[in-house]
Amino acid sequence: MGWDTVLPALISSVLDHLTVVYIPDVIPVDDEIELRIATESDAATLFQLVEKNREHLRAWLPWLDETTSIQDEIEFIHGQLIRHQKTDGSLFLIWYQGRTIVGTLSVNQVDHGNQTGWIGYWLDRGHTGKGIMTRSVGAIVDVLLVSCGFNRVVIEIGVGNSASMAIPLRLGFREEGKSVERQWMYDRWVDSLQYAITAREWPPNHLTPSE
Ligand SMILES: CC(C)(COP(=O)(O)OP(=O)(O)OC[C@H]1O[C@@H](n2cnc3c(N)ncnc32)[C@H](O)[C@@H]1OP(=O)(O)O)[C@@H](O)C(=O)NCCC(=O)NCCS
Repeated sequence: MGWDTVLPALISSVLDHLTVVYIPDVIPVDDEIELRIATESDAATLFQLVEKNREHLRAWLPWLDETTSIQDEIEFIHGQLIRHQKTDGSLFLIWYQGRTIVGTLSVNQVDHGNQTGWIGYWLDRGHTGKGIMTRSVGAIVDVLLVSCGFNRVVIEIGVGNSASMAIPLRLGFREEGKSVERQWMYDRWVDSLQYAITAREWPPNHLTPSE
């Protein structure tokens, strides 16, 4: 076999392992939902949504005391935009029916070497119960595993957060185990369960990519 055969195969093989490249700014979910990267101009709206949902979110999210002003939100979004540009993480806003921001869906962490992303989310209490988050998570998982070259997506969920656990389970994720005292939550340690799915397992038999 000559270099003219070996070289393209070698390049292709290397590229296959370096394909975590780019997370898009906009992810269409279906005719009701779109995920759009948060920008500083969204800060006031997002902050109002956090204010409205403080008690609902406080049960399972640890950052409420660090977000107490629009300026905090601007700085948070600014940091997330820099991470998005480096494919180190992405903060998406969930736009419902084209006009309302109803929550966020984030890529919280990326392990480039192992092509793995960790995602997290929250929803305005008034918009729960409609499948908005299950549909949104399904769409981002599809983009990460099919278009962006990730091999694995992980969701870590506090033990007892059954509404959140139902989301990966609906989408065919595996429960992989429990991390003890995984997260400090204001005044106590919380254990978490890890859910994951790989590119090889996606989409599971009961779903098509558009569901
Ligand atoms: C976790 C959280 C996003 C779940 O919200 P949710 O509304 O239960 O999730 P979904 O938007 O996927 O909606 C699922 C519900 O809609 C129903 N549903 C309607 N249409 C649906 C569809 N097309 N697909 C899936 N579910 C659908 C489901 O049956 C389910 O109803 P149920 O609550 O009666 O069981 C929300 O509880 C939350 O923000 N909690 C606080 C923050 C938090 O815990 N974040 C996660 C940290 S790990």
